[in-house]
Amino acid sequence: MRKKLIAGNWKMNLTYKDSEKLAKEIISKIEKKDLNKTDVLLCPTFVSLGIVNKAIKDTGISLGAQNISYENNGALTGEISAEILKSVGCEYVIIGHSERRSYFHESNAVINKKIRKAIEFDLKPVFCVGESLVEREDEIYEGIIEKQLTEGLAGIESGKIAEVIIAYEPVWAIGTGLNATPEQAAQIHSFIRKIIQKLYNEKAANEILILYGGSVNENNSESILSAKGIDGALIGGASLKPDDFSKIVRTAAQIK
Ligand code: PGA
Repeated sequence: MRKKLIAGNWKMNLTYKDSEKLAKEIISKIEKKDLNKTDVLLCPTFVSLGIVNKAIKDTGISLGAQNISYENNGALTGEISAEILKSVGCEYVIIGHSERRSYFHESNAVINKKIRKAIEFDLKPVFCVGESLVEREDEIYEGIIEKQLTEGLAGIESGKIAEVIIAYEPVWAIGTGLNATPEQAAQIHSFIRKIIQKLYNEKAANEILILYGGSVNENNSESILSAKGIDGALIGGASLKPDDFSKIVRTAAQIK
């Protein structure tokens, strides 16, 4: 049985103090019993990882970063290594988000190196894939997603694939208020499982967690999270609102 995961991607928002405040508000609004049913992950900026880690101590909530270097420590000004992320309490790291792919030109090859580095250091990659609006309209989205998965996961052995979490995030749905319908999302989630089966095996396909991301909010979360094969959500905008985020956690915990 796959346990649902609700992840908040705070992106480049909130000062150090405001990050602590948001983490504390979220903690105060999430019921302990919901955390038995659903895993919760907070991904603040690098600067606020330490303070958020302190705030979530002993709550059962996990910490993740939004990016990672594919190199070990060394002369790489401005980069953050896996070892540094581990030292501040990170268990997860978002890799291959569409904002990194488009604004920072991260290729599938770079994303693959980051995923491999994360796994080497026991950090769970939240590996984002998804098509642009043009790719959806041209109906080439399955090919795009298959390429992202195949190249992104190259060289990752079957013994390690269970560590990877996939997030299907159609680019046209991120921050736009347009979400994929539950049917559209379920279709892609099932397609992703087929690719994982092809690349690995049936067990891996059944066990891998696949999140949906793109304009998830407290109003649409029930229909999205109830759809077949959707194991949780990667949430941007609504993760900055403690009431909305905690309601989504509650919704996820109530879904059978
Ligand atoms: P959004 O962002 O929920 O604001 O659409 C999702 C994401 O980018 O992970």
